[in-house]
Amino acid sequence: MELLALLFLSFCFLTLSGRTFGAESETPVARVTVREDDDVILPCSLDTNENIESMLFDWVKEVPRKEVFMYRNRSHYNNGLPGQDVEFKGRVSHYPEELKYGNASIRLKQTRLEDKGTYTCIFPEIKPSEKISRIELVVEPVLKIRNFPGAAPEPYVTILKEKGLLQCKVPGASPKPTVEWRDSDNKTLPTKTVQDEEQQGRFHVMVQTTVTEPGCYHCVATQMEKWHRISSEICVHREKTAQPPSGLPEWAAALIGGFIVVVFVVAVGVVLKVKGYSLKKDSQRMENGPSSELERNLTSEQP
Ligand SMILES: *[C@@H]1O[C@H](CO)[C@@H](O)[C@H](O)[C@H]1NC(C)=O
Ligand SMILES: *[C@@H]1O[C@H](CO)[C@@H](O)[C@H](O)[C@H]1NC(C)=O
Ligand SMILES: *[C@@H]1O[C@H](CO)[C@@H](O)[C@H](O)[C@H]1NC(C)=O
Repeated sequence: MELLALLFLSFCFLTLSGRTFGAESETPVARVTVREDDDVILPCSLDTNENIESMLFDWVKEVPRKEVFMYRNRSHYNNGLPGQDVEFKGRVSHYPEELKYGNASIRLKQTRLEDKGTYTCIFPEIKPSEKISRIELVVEPVLKIRNFPGAAPEPYVTILKEKGLLQCKVPGASPKPTVEWRDSDNKTLPTKTVQDEEQQGRFHVMVQTTVTEPGCYHCVATQMEKWHRISSEICVHREKTAQPPSGLPEWAAALIGGFIVVVFVVAVGVVLKVKGYSLKKDSQRMENGPSSELERNLTSEQP
C-alpha cells in the first residue's frame, strides 16, 4: 500500500513539474557546447518521425535575426535557394538521408566565436506552427593567433651569446602580453624581464633566459583576455668543437675528396664493364645451348 501511494505521489510530482517546465518556456532551450574551429550538429527532429523531404523547415539565429539554413521541398541554401545570411554561406549542411525520419538537424562547420547564440528550427507549415527546437550554442574559445589592434606580433627571438643566452622581444602589444620562454616539451623556463614599458597604451616586453642544452626553444606571447597566442622558435646548436683533423686546409680536403671520388667512379666503371662482358657471354650461351639441344632432340625423334 505504501509503495503504491509513493508511486502515485511521484507520478503526480513528475506530471506537475513537467507542466511547470512547459509553461515557463514554450520551447525549452537545449545547450550545445563546441570548441572554436570544431564542427557542431544542431539537432532538430519531429517527434512523429514523418518524412519531411517535401516539407519546409527553417533554421534562424537570433538576435539579430539571421537566416542560417532553409529547406523547402528539396531546394535549400546549398543548391540555389536564395536568402542565406552571408556569414553562414558554405558553412551549413543538412542530412538528406535523415529527412525520411523527420530529422532536420544541421551541421555548422568550423565554428567561430561569433556563432554563439540561440538557434531556432521552425516548421511553418505544421499547424499549429511550432518551434521544434531551440538551441543555445556555446563556443569555447581556444588560444590561437588572432588579428586585432594591439595583437602581439610574432616574438623577435635572438641568441645573444654562443653560450645560450636567449632573448625574446614583443613590441607594441595591448593588452599587456605575458611573454615566456619554453623548451621543446613546453616547459616554462626561468626568465629575466629586461624590458617592461608602456608607450601610448602599447606595451613593450623583453625577456631573457639562459639555456645549457642545445635544442629548440620557443618564446610564447599570450594575451589571455583576447585568446591570442603567438610564438617563435629558435634552435641552439652544439658548439662547433669537432673540427676534423686540424691544420688540413679546406682546399686540400676538397682535392683529396675529389681524387677519391674519381678513383671510385673509375673502379666502378671497370667492374661494370667486366661484369657486362661476362653477362653477355652467359646470355649467349643460354640462347644457343638449350635451343640447339631441343633441335637435336626433335631431329633425333623424326625418323
Ligand atoms: C515538391 O516538388 C515537386 C516537383 O519538384 C512537386 O511535384 C510537389 O508538388 C512539390 N511539393 C510541395 C509540397 O510543394
Ligand atoms: C539526426 O541526424 C543527426 C546527423 O546524422 C544525428 O546526429 C541525430 O542523432 C539524428 N537525430 C535523431 C533524433 O535521429
Ligand atoms: C605546446 O604548446 C603549443 C601551444 O602553446 C601547442 O601548439 C603545442 O602542440 C604544444 N606542444 C607540446 C609538445 O605539448
